[in-house]
Amino acid sequence: MKTVKLHDATLSFTDVGTGPVLLLVHGFPLDHSMWQPQLESLSDTYRIIAPDLRGFGASGGATETITMEQFADDMAALLDALGINEPITFCGLSMGGYVAWQFWRRHAARLSRLILCDTRAIADSEEVARGRAMMAERVLSEGSSIVAEAMLPKLFAEATARDDSNTVEATHRVMAATAPAAVAGALRGMALRPDMTKELPNIDVPTLVICGEHDVISPPDEMRSIADKLPNATFVEIAGSGHMSPLEAPAAVNAAIRDFLA
Ligand code: MLT
Repeated sequence: MKTVKLHDATLSFTDVGTGPVLLLVHGFPLDHSMWQPQLESLSDTYRIIAPDLRGFGASGGATETITMEQFADDMAALLDALGINEPITFCGLSMGGYVAWQFWRRHAARLSRLILCDTRAIADSEEVARGRAMMAERVLSEGSSIVAEAMLPKLFAEATARDDSNTVEATHRVMAATAPAAVAGALRGMALRPDMTKELPNIDVPTLVICGEHDVISPPDEMRSIADKLPNATFVEIAGSGHMSPLEAPAAVNAAIRDFLA
């Protein structure tokens, strides 16, 4: 992996292929490795940049609260550092999608297309936000494995959990190894994220909305309604997949991305 020093964080990222830039932003509490099937396949046509967000994976710079706006500004700073000025395709999964909304809000001129995988537009309810605050405290005293244990059963479709133990175990390892400070900071940041529902009709950049058929965190009905409200969106449901569709069903997701970007 390469690294770049921003003013208050060092970001690690993978940068492979040549062509139009496709920025892949991971979910919580993961890192760039969740995009391995896309890095391998799509780099024949695109320059793929897959960072570890601030504090996650090999990147430093976690703070007490890491807002989605901060992550979005980090992505713009990363592009600056790489001298990438042309508009890019921003693809985010789940928390990466929350970052994508804020990238659109703050850096719209840098965006040519959006790909939203298994994500939500609504803000947290008070109850969910309270749960995140409590979980942040627990992670700081007990370690990240409690979040890994809590999330794992929700990430994958039953068939993936049964048949693809390598993927499930690798994902568990990444989550459990994530720095507690990053997990806590992002939990607090997600709890503060704004509701984007009212903004959706204004997001007119061409958008691909991807959702796993069995996603229990951001279910297909909810994501279909996001796509319906976006003026320029295509919705693709990924059969047999859960929340981690790019990892669970890479052939279908890669085909949808290729079609959309062609
Ligand atoms: C994710 O996959 O990034 C998380 O489920 C997002 C969240 O906790 O809201």
